[in-house]
Amino acid sequence: MSKKPLRVGMIGYGFMGRAHSNAYKQVGQFFPSQHEVVLQAACARNEAEIRKFADQWGYASIETDWKKLLDRKDIDVVDICTPNNLHKEIAVAAAQAGKMILCEKPLAMDSKQGAEMVAAVEKAKVPNMVWYNYRRIPAVTLAKKLIDEGRLGRIFHYRAKFLQDWTINADLPQGGQGLWRLDAAAAGSGVSGDLLAHCIDTAVWLNGRLDTVCCMTETFVKERKHNLTGKVEKVGIDDACIFMGKFANGSLANFESTRYARGHKALYTFEINGEKASLAWDLHDLHRLQMFDYKDEGKIRGWKSIHVTDNGGEHPYMDKWWVPGLAIGYDCSFTHQVADFIQGLESGTPQGPTFRDALETQQILDAMLDSAKQQKWVTVAK
Ligand SMILES: NC(=O)c1ccc[n+]([C@@H]2O[C@H](COP(=O)([O-])OP(=O)(O)OC[C@H]3O[C@@H](n4cnc5c(N)ncnc54)[C@H](O)[C@@H]3O)[C@@H](O)[C@H]2O)c1
Repeated sequence: MSKKPLRVGMIGYGFMGRAHSNAYKQVGQFFPSQHEVVLQAACARNEAEIRKFADQWGYASIETDWKKLLDRKDIDVVDICTPNNLHKEIAVAAAQAGKMILCEKPLAMDSKQGAEMVAAVEKAKVPNMVWYNYRRIPAVTLAKKLIDEGRLGRIFHYRAKFLQDWTINADLPQGGQGLWRLDAAAAGSGVSGDLLAHCIDTAVWLNGRLDTVCCMTETFVKERKHNLTGKVEKVGIDDACIFMGKFANGSLANFESTRYARGHKALYTFEINGEKASLAWDLHDLHRLQMFDYKDEGKIRGWKSIHVTDNGGEHPYMDKWWVPGLAIGYDCSFTHQVADFIQGLESGTPQGPTFRDALETQQILDAMLDSAKQQKWVTVAK
């Protein structure tokens, strides 16, 4: 059977450009569908660099101006892997050009931009998705299944952390490849939009709407040299962010993120405590889901560590990979996301997180930063 091509135009070739390209190359082998992903064009401003990237990953062509990429008739889906300040402009133009869009997170710099992006894709009726990829780590997807089956009962608490330590050095500049994260003009915010956005997406997916928040942020290093201007400039991002909140289901939220937790590289953890059971997950041990089930017999009741690698169909995605007991990695969450996007196209039921889903996370981020500024509780806009 001849497959329908899904011709990708990738914008950006950094960390995510590589993670997504890897997923596009893997997906057809492990998740066969009626579509065949074609690496049609890669785009970035530096011609030599994007040529090198295109050759390495097997893209058929290059562009150095994303507007030219959007003009091309041979591109079906645009993948936005640029810093956050470019997401809106590219996504709105891509929607107007009738392209499907896969956009990196956070959706936008703020919810005003996010709302414009939602309006554009919904007006153009183009399939869209945002790369909140942690939903598709099998242990996290299993947590969703267990919660939806009612195994936790009434939920009391949801707590999450995302801890790193790579910006402690005050000599680290802001601006440029990777380091744009320290520049508020490119990133919008600091650890809140970069790291907590992931925790919030997972939390809302697992536990429903977050209604109110009370937040505190800190910028430990106030000035850094800017890589692009060469001048020492004020740092406008949050280096650390802690917030509490209340979910619509009555449970309490407790979140923390920082890039100043010496010793932690990417410690994303969450725990959810219900009346009947609790679940816990840790990115450093990503194939395991911890569960405490109160209905277990008393003398053997305790936390159990579920190795989410069974291929019998009970552990999400794992029937497509190896034999039971063999773990898969971080990279596979992106492969799963592409597989689900294609499945959404073929079934006619869009798979989340869509731009609209991601707007909810953006509204929570806005409420958090507003709360931190005003030093008071803020209701999340709906
Ligand atoms: N889903 C995740 O887990 C995850 C992880 C990391 C980053 N991200 C998100 O992915 C996006 C990119 O982050 P990254 O870590 O890959 O950054 P990066 O600095 O490694 O790469 C950014 C790329 O954007 C390109 N770029 C910048 N301006 C451009 C322009 N005008 N036209 C074309 N290309 C341009 C750069 O050349 C570079 O290749 C961000 O939105 C970030 O928040 C998501």
